[in-house]
Amino acid sequence: MRVLGIETSCDETGVAVYDTALPGAAGLRAHAVYSQIALHAEYGGVVPELASRDHVRKLLPLVRQTLAEAGLGTADLDGVAYTAGPGLVGALLVGAGTARALAWALDVPAVAVHHMEGHLLAPLMEDDPPEPPFVALLVSGGHTQLVAVDGIGRYRLLGETLDDAAGEAFDKTAKMMGLPYPGGPQLAALAEQGTPGVFRFARPMTDRPGLDFSFSGLKTQVLLAWRQSDRSPQTRADIARGFEDAVVDTLAIKCERALDAAGCGPRACTTLVVAGGVGANKHLRARLQQMCAKRGGRACFPRPALCTDNGAMIAFAGALRLQAGQREDAQVKVTPRWDMAALPAVS
Ligand code: KG4
Ligand code: ZN
Repeated sequence: MRVLGIETSCDETGVAVYDTALPGAAGLRAHAVYSQIALHAEYGGVVPELASRDHVRKLLPLVRQTLAEAGLGTADLDGVAYTAGPGLVGALLVGAGTARALAWALDVPAVAVHHMEGHLLAPLMEDDPPEPPFVALLVSGGHTQLVAVDGIGRYRLLGETLDDAAGEAFDKTAKMMGLPYPGGPQLAALAEQGTPGVFRFARPMTDRPGLDFSFSGLKTQVLLAWRQSDRSPQTRADIARGFEDAVVDTLAIKCERALDAAGCGPRACTTLVVAGGVGANKHLRARLQQMCAKRGGRACFPRPALCTDNGAMIAFAGALRLQAGQREDAQVKVTPRWDMAALPAVS
């Protein structure tokens, strides 16, 4: 089954074709992402109306480009998957309207995909994919969640952030330190030049039981350190490194707890799946891999380009749901706020 995936939930237009007849990573026939970063940079954050309008401009040319790269025509498609939420309502409507219209015109089924389920399943697109049950860490700009994955579509929330998401903490901290938007990747690059241990920040909520997170206090600690510092380039890098290490450590501590707590069948879980934009962070990847290896398990990530928003994860998650017989009726409907635990089970 060849499925066109369309992602427009925020500031990236993503399109891909996934072919279930091909094994693992080969199934991804083509994918393209158009980022609106330059458009929103002067405002220091995403402007929803500008995002919607830019999706309108970019989506169809990107569909044409992706199909051409895959060497396919619209007649070769067996289904269309689109992000229906969570996300910005106007941006979601552009993708949903386009996807629904395409599916209608081609007389193929359309399926609505939950953006976070897309992220969660992205590592399963790679070669040697993990199989449920496993624990998933979802770390993006809007979410920080630990989820027990009992099967595809069977998700139990184990813990989540009580305030800022991990990516949001990266972005806000970067902004405070004068780094250009979007700060997360810039802060991570700066941390590469920093010396570990020069600045040590708290590992929030690790001194008590539980799987929830809180990152807003950490941001304030960094702000104070930054204000009181000499603000030299080296100090800036050292603070960035101290912040990144605190986030990475905190996530790793909670992931290990979640693996112990989730229970995958009769035993503790050994497989951790990590997805979402912050999953592209080099230190986080290394730390979680190390933690899982020590427990005799493994940590699975999508390649960095598929950690951040993309159409491939939507095509893949949509293909699994279409294969299970799920389809939407002809109305264009989006769900800007959507609980992943409410999704129907696939397997
Ligand atoms: O999943 P994503 O592309 O969009 C959302 O669904 O939110 O995640 C974007 C987030 C941003 O907050 C960005 O700063 C963060 O992921 N991010 C990173 C890195 N790359 C992206 N954070 C830390 N290190 C990175 N290398
Ligand atoms: Zn995302």
